[in-house]
Amino acid sequence: MNARHVVIAMCGIAGLLVLGGAASLDTQVLSAGSDTVFDTSREAYSQPSPMMDDANERAFARGRSLFRQSWVIAPATDRAAGLGPLFNRISCIACHARNGRGGAPDDPQASMQAMLLRLSIPGTDAHGGPKPHPAYGDQLNERGVPGVPGEGIASLLYEEHTETFADGSDITLRKPAIHLRDLAYGPLGNDILVSPRVGPAVYGLGLLEAIPDETLLALRNQPKPAGIGGRVNIVWDAINKKEAIGRFGMKANVASLTEQVANAFVGDLGITSSLRPQENCTAVQTACKQAPSGRASEYESSELSQADLFATVFYHRSLAVPARRNMQDQQVLRGQQLFRQAHCAACHVPELRTRKDTALPSLSNRLIRPYTDLLLHDMGEGLADGRPDYRATGREWRTPPLWGIGLAKKVNPNAGFLHDGRARTLLEAVMWHGGEAQASREAVRAMPTEDRAALLRYLGSI
Ligand code: HEC
Ligand code: HEC
Repeated sequence: MNARHVVIAMCGIAGLLVLGGAASLDTQVLSAGSDTVFDTSREAYSQPSPMMDDANERAFARGRSLFRQSWVIAPATDRAAGLGPLFNRISCIACHARNGRGGAPDDPQASMQAMLLRLSIPGTDAHGGPKPHPAYGDQLNERGVPGVPGEGIASLLYEEHTETFADGSDITLRKPAIHLRDLAYGPLGNDILVSPRVGPAVYGLGLLEAIPDETLLALRNQPKPAGIGGRVNIVWDAINKKEAIGRFGMKANVASLTEQVANAFVGDLGITSSLRPQENCTAVQTACKQAPSGRASEYESSELSQADLFATVFYHRSLAVPARRNMQDQQVLRGQQLFRQAHCAACHVPELRTRKDTALPSLSNRLIRPYTDLLLHDMGEGLADGRPDYRATGREWRTPPLWGIGLAKKVNPNAGFLHDGRARTLLEAVMWHGGEAQASREAVRAMPTEDRAALLRYLGSI
């Protein structure tokens, strides 16, 4: 165990007890049990698990450098070669700033920046997943290496509308419409399905991966307030070559962190790995198919070595979650009550426990406070992308975890909320809730001014 972190953790708990809190609060502050860190700086999402030993610190450091570095075009002697032929950005952190979320561009001329556009056409692929567009594939890659045209540029145009609260105050919400230009491989056609997504935060994912499938199935079947359901997504697990419950991605369309990381390398950066050995060129993208590979030698089967894929996965599994803050504040306690009364907790489930048989001991049998059920919910027409993904419909999204969300703007002042970053504040995010969460939204609309402020203060504390 890393001594520095333990000391910090103990000071944090002691500090709370000195303040004279109820006995249960000293554990509630630990969002992720022993994987919690007491850091409220801009690096709050970048801390390793306090349980890490020295050998693991080296793997963590390797994963961190792979996540942060800028990749270059092959051939190059650099170990970090292999970018493209088609790609979105040159590093993982370009979309996951300091391991936190990205934001939606305000400028209607700007390209996607920390966002990407999922693409498909109606129908399914061989495993029941979305059917890629024949010329553009399953994601718009805005850039290409020299000689390989980038696929096109997407930008967002906003339509604004105002919602009014019961106390008479207003809030302006903005909804993005996608505008595409410079399409290099022909028209997309009329039946194209598009879904803009902003890079989410990536800490605490090892713990979410360690929540047992049985827990998700039990949460699905649990009785809930009227109108609230919740479904698991059943997806193709490319590692075990069978169907599995999905839990990563905004429609829970990926079963494991390893697969999610391998997909990100090839899909966002154009870096192949053992799990995704093919560059993301479609049949008509001839220059893409002929571009030189970034494999270190002809004996390597992919651009990213197996050790580096595992180091990046290890890095994600080991990123700790920030502790809760201001838990004894009266306004925060009032907000906690309101969070339950408005049925937010029916989907943003405060407490879960991880499996016992996890790869890393620090992830095993932990009481965690992620504020998610990892289930799919119909969130109404306002948030719908109309693009099905395995069993997720065009109106469903996976409940995102809320742990650490109060520090989002500290880590990245441009952080945007909801799947496409449209919400500039937490209150905007709540006021977009529809479908199964419509009654929750209306409860917030009806709240007296002080209660609304208390709810937001609570969200800021978790
Ligand atoms: C162009 C922006 C972009 C880049 C570059 C990018 N990501 Fe992401 N990342 C996203 C988006 C958007 C999502 C959500 C994807 C979805 O819903 O399908 C995501 C999701 C993830 C997730 C799953 C998070 C969750 O809660 O389910 C992980 C892990 C991840 N990315 C890791 C990486 C790694 C590793 C790299 C570099 C190899 C990377 N990303 C590069 C935009 C990006
Ligand atoms: C029916 C399930 C459900 C209920 C009830 C619900 N939410 Fe959500 N919440 C979601 C889903 C799903 C999303 C993601 C929607 C999207 O990205 O389009 C979300 C997103 C959010 C976000 C943005 C998170 C992010 O990472 O961008 C916040 C904040 C939030 N909810 C707070 C609340 C609060 C507060 C309440 C109660 C007033 C509430 N939610 C009730 C399912 C629910």
